[in-house]
Amino acid sequence: MKFSSFVIAAAAVASSIATPVNVTEGFGELLARGGTPSSTGTSNGYYYSWWTDGAAQATYTNGGGGQYSLNWSGNNGNLVGGKGWNPGSASRTINYSGTYQPNGNSYLSIYGWTRSPLIEYYIVESYGSYNPSSAATRKGTVSCDGASYDILTTWRYNAPSIDGTQTFQQFWSVRNPKKSPGGSISGSVNVACHFNAWRNLGMSLGTQHNYQIVATEGYQSSGSATINVA
Ligand SMILES: *[C@@H]1O[C@H](CO)[C@@H](O)[C@H](O)[C@H]1NC(C)=O
Ligand SMILES: *[C@@H]1O[C@H](CO)[C@@H](O)[C@H](O)[C@H]1NC(C)=O
Ligand SMILES: *[C@@H]1O[C@H](CO)[C@@H](O)[C@H](O)[C@H]1NC(C)=O
Repeated sequence: MKFSSFVIAAAAVASSIATPVNVTEGFGELLARGGTPSSTGTSNGYYYSWWTDGAAQATYTNGGGGQYSLNWSGNNGNLVGGKGWNPGSASRTINYSGTYQPNGNSYLSIYGWTRSPLIEYYIVESYGSYNPSSAATRKGTVSCDGASYDILTTWRYNAPSIDGTQTFQQFWSVRNPKKSPGGSISGSVNVACHFNAWRNLGMSLGTQHNYQIVATEGYQSSGSATINVA
């Protein structure tokens, strides 16, 4: 994707995750062909969040324990779903395993939010055709769980968030090299390693954690994922 496209993509991504869209009001027409309606809640002891703008044909299913599955097609729209916890933790080691098969622009990430201050964060383990660090400001690198990650920030201005329309920072760790997409995938992410590295670079998360999930995201693409989170 080109830079200008990425900005649009990033805006769509952030709004996707942030806005509690009432799908019956806002996107009912699109959802007629969009598949699983957006929802959040708990499933088998895990918090889950599923959001779609309805433009893709997308199916999201909560499985047993920390498992979820989704598939999407149509090379249209934006969607993100996954399981984890609410509130998130600054010290959790998050394991994930399953299959991740994106075709086009997609991320597989530890994804969450804090308040005080409001921050949206990603620890990107794998991605499809587009590297999300391409259009962000590079701050440094960190070695966590035996891998190197690029650390980046971006600002979002008057953008949707867990607290409505706000201006806030995004913090990113992007695994370099990414874990190979296209089949089986697994990993273990000690979030404290990232959060401490971010703090040492002047990027302090907020004091209050909101949700923290292992998210699969698609943007104008197609793909499928079945991920077990623990
Ligand atoms: C969504 O909109 C419908 C139709 O106006 C309404 O009945 C429903 O209560 C709304 N749901 C939420 C969660 O706001
Ligand atoms: C997506 O998953 C659903 C539920 O498992 C399945 O019925 C459907 O055939 C799948 N669609 C594609 C395109 O794989
Ligand atoms: C995560 O995986 C590590 C080994 O990679 C293991 O020691 C730990 O118990 C696992 N944690 C959970 C919650 O499954």
